[in-house]
Amino acid sequence: MVTEQIKTRIAELESFLVEFRRDLHRHPEFSMQEVRTSGRVAEVLEQYGIPYRRIGATGIAADITGGRPGPRILLRADMDALSVTEETGLPYASETPGAMHACGHDCHTAMLLCAGIVLQEMREELSGSVRLMFQPAEEIARGAAAMVEGGALEGVDVCFGMHITPNYPLGTVGYSRGPAASAASFFAIDVNGKSGHGSAPQNAVDAIAASAVMITSFQTLLSREIDPLKNAVVTVGKIEGGDRFNIIPGHVHMEGTARTYYPEVFRHIEEMVKRVVTGVAKTYRCTAEVDYQNLTEVVENEDAMIDLVVCASDRVLGEGVAFRTPPFTGSEDFCEFSTRRPSAFVWLGAGDPEAAEHYDHHHSKFCIDERALKNGAALYAAVAAEYLTERS
Ligand code: NI
Repeated sequence: MVTEQIKTRIAELESFLVEFRRDLHRHPEFSMQEVRTSGRVAEVLEQYGIPYRRIGATGIAADITGGRPGPRILLRADMDALSVTEETGLPYASETPGAMHACGHDCHTAMLLCAGIVLQEMREELSGSVRLMFQPAEEIARGAAAMVEGGALEGVDVCFGMHITPNYPLGTVGYSRGPAASAASFFAIDVNGKSGHGSAPQNAVDAIAASAVMITSFQTLLSREIDPLKNAVVTVGKIEGGDRFNIIPGHVHMEGTARTYYPEVFRHIEEMVKRVVTGVAKTYRCTAEVDYQNLTEVVENEDAMIDLVVCASDRVLGEGVAFRTPPFTGSEDFCEFSTRRPSAFVWLGAGDPEAAEHYDHHHSKFCIDERALKNGAALYAAVAAEYLTERS
C-alpha cells in the first residue's frame, strides 16, 4: 500500500520535480556557495511544513518524524556545481557563464526534496524518522565533513545516498557490494634544482630530469609493491616547469591523485610517493617537498543496507531493475557517512536509450534522461519507507 502511495504521489509531483531541477540547472552554484539553491530548498520545506535547520552557510538538515517511534534514516543529496562551460544546448542550460551542473547534483537535490514531500505527507505511517540532508561542496570533498561536524549524523542509524548517471540505462539501479567508491588523495610536489644553460648541464641541477624519474617510478613501484589483486592508481595530472627549450629549469611543480578501494593500499601509496620524491630528489641533487592530503576514504556499502535498497527498488521501480555493478573508481565524500554508519550508495540509471552518445560526468555536454528523476525520488522515498516499516 505504501508503495502505491509513493508511486501515485511521485507521479503527481513529476512536473514540479522536473521544473525544480531545471531551475537549479539554470542557476548552478559552486561548492560552499549554494546560497540560492539552499534557499529554494528551504522555501519548499517551509511550504510543506517540514522542519529544518541550517548547517553552515548552505547545508540543510530537515527532519520528518513518523507516527510511531523507531530508528532514523538519513537520505543524502548534494547541491554543488562545477566550473565547466555548458555546451548541451538545452533550453534550460546554465545561465551562469563558466558554471554548470555537470555532475547531476541538481537532480539529486530535486529528487530528495520531492521524496521529502511524499514522506512528510505519509509520515503517520512511518515507524521512526527521516533526515533529509542537503549538503554543500561534494565536488571539493568538504561538504559532507562539514555536515557531520555540524551534527547531521546525531541520532542517525543508517544512511542512504545515490548518484545519477547516464552510464547505466534509464530505469535501472546499479549497486555494488563492499566498496562503492575509491579512497582519493591529492598531492602537490615541488622539485627544486638550479637553472642553467641548456648546453651546459654540468653547471645546473635539472628539476625536469628528476621529475620525470619520479613520475615513472610511481608507476613501476605500484606494480612491484602492491598486491596485483588490489587496485591502485597514481595519476600525475599536472606538471609545470621551464621557460624555454634551451634553459634547464630550476623548479618543477606537479600535482596528482591516488585511488584505491583498500585502506591499507591507500596508506602504502602515501608512504611510497613521499619515499620516491625524497629519494629521487636526493639522487638527482635536487630538493623537494610534498604536500599530501587524503581527500576521501573508501565508500563501503553495508550488505544489509544494499539488501534493503534492492528490495525497495524491486517494489517501487520494478522487480529486477537493480543490478550489480563493479565499484566506481572515482571518489565520493559520502564516505564521511559510510565510515560512521551502516550505509548504501547506489547509481541511478539515467541513460537515454535513444541517445547516440553519452557524455560522462563533468563533461560540458553531460546530460541525463529526465524521466529518471521520478525514479530517483521514488527510490529515496521507498528506501526510507522500507527501513521504517514496523517488522513483527
Ligand atoms: Ni557527483
